[in-house]
Amino acid sequence: MTYFPDHDYLPPVVYLDLWPLTGSLAMVRDPVAVSQFTIVRSEPKVDVVAKFFHPMTLGLDILTTEGQTWKTWRSRFNPGFSQRNLTALMPEIIEEVSIFANRLKQVAGKGNDFGPVFPLMNMTTNLTFDVIGRATLLILQRDMRLRSQTDQSDGNSLKSTLFDQIRLMEIFENVAQGIILQKRLQSNPGAGQKTTVLDLAIKHIDTDAPDGSQKKPTPEFVDRLVANLKVFLFAGHDTTAATICFMMKLLQDHPACLERIRAEHDSVLGAEPDPARAVQLLTASPHLLHSLPYSLGVIKETLRLYPLAATVRQPPPGYYLTGADSVKYPMDRFGLWTSTPVIQRHPQYWPRPSEFLPERWTATEGDPLYPATPNSWIPFSLGPRTCIGMELAYMELKLVLVLTARTLEIQEAWSEWDAVK
Ligand code: HEM
Repeated sequence: MTYFPDHDYLPPVVYLDLWPLTGSLAMVRDPVAVSQFTIVRSEPKVDVVAKFFHPMTLGLDILTTEGQTWKTWRSRFNPGFSQRNLTALMPEIIEEVSIFANRLKQVAGKGNDFGPVFPLMNMTTNLTFDVIGRATLLILQRDMRLRSQTDQSDGNSLKSTLFDQIRLMEIFENVAQGIILQKRLQSNPGAGQKTTVLDLAIKHIDTDAPDGSQKKPTPEFVDRLVANLKVFLFAGHDTTAATICFMMKLLQDHPACLERIRAEHDSVLGAEPDPARAVQLLTASPHLLHSLPYSLGVIKETLRLYPLAATVRQPPPGYYLTGADSVKYPMDRFGLWTSTPVIQRHPQYWPRPSEFLPERWTATEGDPLYPATPNSWIPFSLGPRTCIGMELAYMELKLVLVLTARTLEIQEAWSEWDAVK
């Protein structure tokens, strides 16, 4: 399967003039050079990113802020997105993925027949919204769920939530003012109690209040909380939802890989393929989800072949990048754009670059498939600005595999889709 041709003819840096769209950009396809503006020194994001998000978040979100403000707020959200915290929330997230798996089962055909054609991306988008909602919104209010998968009012409430700013703001205003600021302050989660991203971030209300009072958060605190909730939904939904679709397409095209996944699930979760059994097991022992190396390989290989996001950074005046070829590339006035799809399929860094080979992720050093070039797998970017939602995305993707791979056959059907459209 070829999605991008092998760009081995491209030099490490390609200068592009995209004015007036985004200004001048340099496509950087050399991992050594990419590490210089992401890890060695994390350069700020280009203005165009902040301009794009400003109408939604007024510049108060962590995706577009820089410096100390970014550092403070990123460290407030990091604990909520940690693998440990998300593992504690796994039963809630399993609940959402089970709804997704059940809905797929409902549209499946009987026996060996396929059911009617449907757009998978709508369902994965709804799932992803609900998962982000479960991980971020308050645990205090048990009913504080987005319910995009099950609430069919106005067609598809999830999509309208995303694209209708007014509705979006209503939800978050309610979350922020009605619930967080009143109820949450009165009852801090006790030791051992589950905490969402928001639960953990609002612990800092008192730190920000000028009078040190825990009762009155600053208006700026509330605004930043709301802005970041919006950005989590925005940055996390499309990326994860499309990755699920690509993953299912790749498994359809590679039945031997699907068989290996099924065998792995049988051996870790028991030979009974009924999703209810896996749900039971994972709810009791969530750590089992971290013992599925081949499934993780499928996810990483999907993200290698179909990366969905990349970073663009603004260098200071007089900046140079030095590639692995030791050439110094002048970067004045050019946005530094990580050329993720090219790097992740480049034959210089990857053996058999265009092939879907999940086993490269379980290969050990010395194996010809072993991924040997540092910083050449970058779907979540690199350095301190790396994706905060990576662990959540992994969890959702693995749960989707566990609850669907053994019981469903998914087949793309473009001509049938054309016929119903
Ligand atoms: C497969 C799924 C995902 C992919 C491929 C992905 C990819 C990325 C990439 C490449 C960046 C870096 C952007 C940059 O530096 O300009 C990023 C940043 C970010 N992502 Fe994700 N993402 C995914 C899922 C999520 C999820 C589930 C969430 C939240 C619920 C999320 C929230 C964010 C945020 C807030 C940032 C900005 C972090 C910062 O600047 O400190 N992402 N993501």
